[in-house]
Amino acid sequence: MNTKESILRRLRAAEDYLSGQQISRELGISRAAVWKSIGKLKEEGYPIEAVTNKGYRLLSMDTEDTDLFNGAEITAHMHTFWAGHPLYFAAQTGSTNEDILRLSGEGSPQGTVAVTAVQTAGKGRRGRTWISPDGNIYMSILLKPHLPAPKAPMLTLVMALSVLEAVRGLSSLGDSYAAASSAAIKWPNDIVMPGPDGQYRKICGILTEMRMEETEIRDIVIGIGINVNQTEFPEEIRETASSLRCLLGRIVNRSLLTARVWERFEDNCNRFLEAESFTPLKERYEDALVNRGREVRVLDPRGPYTGTALGINEDGALLVRLHGGEAEEGTVRAIDSGEVSVRGTGGYV
Ligand code: BTN
Repeated sequence: MNTKESILRRLRAAEDYLSGQQISRELGISRAAVWKSIGKLKEEGYPIEAVTNKGYRLLSMDTEDTDLFNGAEITAHMHTFWAGHPLYFAAQTGSTNEDILRLSGEGSPQGTVAVTAVQTAGKGRRGRTWISPDGNIYMSILLKPHLPAPKAPMLTLVMALSVLEAVRGLSSLGDSYAAASSAAIKWPNDIVMPGPDGQYRKICGILTEMRMEETEIRDIVIGIGINVNQTEFPEEIRETASSLRCLLGRIVNRSLLTARVWERFEDNCNRFLEAESFTPLKERYEDALVNRGREVRVLDPRGPYTGTALGINEDGALLVRLHGGEAEEGTVRAIDSGEVSVRGTGGYV
């Protein structure tokens, strides 16, 4: 925790004014250093009152109505043991996945997280660019699990479930968040929410990268882009993408949501790694699966086909009952996310 974070934590916990002298003594820093950090916190938007002979006090603020997004805010909200320890926040970076790959090479531990407000070289799946303007959350985590390599792709599903639960959890903050409970998972790892027209829009994408050392996993980076407070979308994704702000009709505090994602991920990941299986999470994942019971079009490179999505198997593959006109009508095929994309027959979902 840096000086700013330590001061913020103390101000939050204090019931009365905290004198500059007390802070400087407790943190082992000069009064001038305290004053400088307080100045920076004020610049970032914290309502800190300074009264001569009394000290500093954090005025009450409604976290939810602000969008203070920085490392100190995230850690103040986050209660985790390993996910997000350490957590690096940058106002802007190229790609948080790239940052984590580098940090891993430098010996960072499992759980290291990089978060940013803007990416200049965001990466999407299948070699696409992930356009990353300010207003959203872009973040990645480092994992070094003792896991058979074929099971590693399931960690992406673990992350999808965790983001989903964090987003749905917003609904407990009050009526203005109610629509968050309609968030769902589009197999395998997009988070979607219905728009006013009933059509589902993508609000989060996940990109997992794994490096091997002979037959062992060296490291895994899972990167998440959540569209939070973005209001303008480029032409090419306007039909399929949206943000929480557009769909809820209110701003969402990014630090709070970031902290909740890591809390949900730590819990779900612990269960997955302990069982070395997705089974403990399968039921919750399937309950959130928007494709379930719907007609899907499977974009198989060997030729597209349609069917009804039934759920997933223990490996996270989508189970699809093939339709008439397709080969082997009625048979159930397990679809691996590495091979194909899935769309709704009438659109994106
Ligand atoms: C997708 O194409 O759906 C996946 C998008 C993943 C984007 C995130 S943003 C944070 C992390 N850093 C990146 O460069 N990409 C991922």
